[in-house]
Amino acid sequence: MQIAERMTRIGIESAFEVLQRARALEAQGKHVIHLEIGQPDFPTPAHIKEAAKRALDEGWTGYGPTPGFPDFREAIADYISTSRGIRVSGQNVVVVPGGKPIMFFAMMAVVEPGDEVIYPNPGFPIYESVINFLGATPVPVPLVESRGFSFDLDTFEAKLSPKTKMVILNSPGNPTGAVMPLDDWAKLFALQDRYGFTIASDECYSEIYFREEPPLGGLEAAAKLGRGDFRKLVAFTSLSKRSNVPGMRSGFVAGDAAILKQFLLYRTYHGSAMSGTVAAASIAAWSDELHVVDNRAQYRAKFAAVTPLLEPVLDVRLPDASFYLWAGIPPAWQGDDAAFARALYAQYNVTVLPGSYLAREVGGANPGRGRIRMALVADTAECTEAAQRIVNFIQN
Ligand SMILES: Cc1ncc(COP(=O)(O)O)c(C=O)c1O
Repeated sequence: MQIAERMTRIGIESAFEVLQRARALEAQGKHVIHLEIGQPDFPTPAHIKEAAKRALDEGWTGYGPTPGFPDFREAIADYISTSRGIRVSGQNVVVVPGGKPIMFFAMMAVVEPGDEVIYPNPGFPIYESVINFLGATPVPVPLVESRGFSFDLDTFEAKLSPKTKMVILNSPGNPTGAVMPLDDWAKLFALQDRYGFTIASDECYSEIYFREEPPLGGLEAAAKLGRGDFRKLVAFTSLSKRSNVPGMRSGFVAGDAAILKQFLLYRTYHGSAMSGTVAAASIAAWSDELHVVDNRAQYRAKFAAVTPLLEPVLDVRLPDASFYLWAGIPPAWQGDDAAFARALYAQYNVTVLPGSYLAREVGGANPGRGRIRMALVADTAECTEAAQRIVNFIQN
């Protein structure tokens, strides 16, 4: 059998490699604390589970409409207007099975072989994987300490070319937790007007933040800057982190109506329309803010407990947002983050993700080198225990 050429461009994602090794240790009876995968570990709120059960009992098990049930799209539009202060219509919203699939679908719909796609480096590994899969050229923009690990518009501008088709933004970002300010959005839109690229804004961490002000989203930035038609802009997010339901696979994409129209047609090919059961649970999740406020309070308490423990031994600080610590390892390791992660795991059974696994080497430099990503998704006691083990590991 001959598989398609593009299938040869598929590889395993680094975080899952680390997870596989951790699972092998657990099989030997070791208590491993997992800080490598960004899977929320808090329980799913009761009202979301109840809504799903009720929908099942009421027989909501048939096919759902591809864009999402109309009341579901309206619930999302309401969520956008209350949380972001901007009015979008249900027509500007398409329901999708999670943030990761949106990424894939959006790139499939917009990017062609030979196009260039700019994305943050380090970043969510699937960005680069899908760009490669589509036969496009990945153009990484390094996120560096001197710019607070935020997406740097000057470097971005230097990377633009007539082939630039899309830029993927991730604010708040995985793994650095940085948030892009309004001034940078203004520069980005000005460059978009000159070059014509599409902006895909991944905002799946927008509800977990540590400052008073919520992180600025792409649609909000566009509206503030007089671009209320959201031209060439799509923003997406999911319930995974907001409501602790990553396995429910529920998210949405909103923005440019012309792109969404095409996107919707394309979506009809996948047969991945959401069932009424998941839709009912999702409406319950998007319509309630109390559980999100509570979720955020728990992350804040956890980060307040863990970050000060690590500050004396790692180059680490509270991020703007997200549930990651992006920490520099001690100089004695000479930047070898993979060796650091391996030794920590072998001696103290704590898994972290080497920063260089999340970044691409460009011009001989890997912007993830010398750093590790810790996902504080386990409960506070477990994360505090992990931090203590890390302190002992470094001090011994
Ligand atoms: C930056 C980023 N985007 C998107 C996702 C996808 O989340 P989901 O597919 O569960 O919505 C993740 C998950 O970890 C992520 O880190």
